[in-house]
Amino acid sequence: MYNLLKGKKGIIFGALDSKSIAWKVAERAHEEGAKFVLTNAPVAMRLGTIAELAEKTGSEIIPADATSMLDLENLVDKAVEILGGKIDFVLHSIGMSVNVRRGNLYTHQDYNFTKTGWDVSALSFHRVMSVLYQRNAMNEWGSIVALTYMAAQRVFPDYNDMADNKAYLESVARSFGYFFGRDHKVRVNTISQSPTPTTAGSGVKGFDGFISYAEKMSPLGNATALECADYTITMFSDLTKKVTLQNLFHDGGFSNMGVSNAIMDEIMKNESTDEIVEEPKKKGKK
Ligand SMILES: NC(=O)c1ccc[n+]([C@@H]2O[C@H](COP(=O)([O-])OP(=O)(O)OC[C@H]3O[C@@H](n4cnc5c(N)ncnc54)[C@H](O)[C@@H]3O)[C@@H](O)[C@H]2O)c1
Repeated sequence: MYNLLKGKKGIIFGALDSKSIAWKVAERAHEEGAKFVLTNAPVAMRLGTIAELAEKTGSEIIPADATSMLDLENLVDKAVEILGGKIDFVLHSIGMSVNVRRGNLYTHQDYNFTKTGWDVSALSFHRVMSVLYQRNAMNEWGSIVALTYMAAQRVFPDYNDMADNKAYLESVARSFGYFFGRDHKVRVNTISQSPTPTTAGSGVKGFDGFISYAEKMSPLGNATALECADYTITMFSDLTKKVTLQNLFHDGGFSNMGVSNAIMDEIMKNESTDEIVEEPKKKGKK
C-alpha cells in the first residue's frame, strides 16, 4: 500500500470478529507496515475470533478489561516490552450499554447498568490515556483515536444512554488531549463514524432502519468499516501531526445535512399512498 505506518508501534482495542471496525483497522495497519498488540476483554477472547486476526497480522494478544487499571497497566507494560519501545498509536474501539442490551428505554434506565456502560464505553478512554501518560509510554508525535457516534450532538432516541457516553468520551478526548499535546506532543481525536453493521451497532433497536435512513441522507452514502479504518490510518500517520482535540466526522456528509431529496421522495411517496388509502374511506362516509 503506502507504507504510512512503517516502523510504528501500536495498541488496538476492540477487535471482536471480522465485522469489528477495530479488526479492519488492524488489517490496514498491518498492510501499512505497523507492528501492534491486540487487546480485548477476557470474555471477548472466548466469544470472538481475535486469535485469527492475531495470526494473520503477526500480533500478540494481551487480554485487558478496559475498566481495570491493573489490566491496563499490565497491557501497556507488556506492549512496550513486546514491541521493543514506546507506542506510536492507540485505537480505543470499545462500546457497550447494558440498558440497550436489556431493552430498557432511555427514560427507564437501571442506573447500575448506566454506570457499567459509562465505565466501559467512556471512562475507559480516560483510564487508557492515564496509564499511557503516567508511564510516559507514548512516543512524541504519537496519535490516539477513539471511535464515537453523532448521537453525542443530536438526538437519536434508540441510541439510549450510549449518546451520553459518547458525549463524555468526546469531552475526555479534548481534555486529556490538551495535557498529552502540551507534555508529550501526542494528539488525541475522536472519529464519528456512520452507523456500521457490527455486533455493537446491531444491538441498537431498529438498526436496519437507522442505517438506511443515514444512507439516504448522506450525499456520499454511509462510510463502511473499511473506509473508517482507512481514515483512522491517516490519523495514525505522520500526515496529520497537527490535528488534535477534534471530533472528526466520517459519515459521508450526514452530519451537515438537513434533508436530502432521497428522504423527501420517500416521505412524499408515503404521503401520496396515504391519500390513496384514505380516499375510499372518505367516499364511504358520504
Ligand atoms: N457500529 C456502529 O454503528 C458504530 C458507529 C459509530 C461508532 N461506533 C463505535 O465503534 C466502536 C467499535 O464498535 P464496533 O461497531 O466495531 O462493534 P464491536 O462489537 O465489534 O466492538 C466493540 C468492542 O468493545 C469490546 N468491549 C466491550 N466491553 C469491553 C471491556 N470491558 N473491555 C475491553 N473491551 C470491551 C468488545 O469486546 C468489542 O470488541 C465503539 O466505540 C462503537 O460505539 C460504532
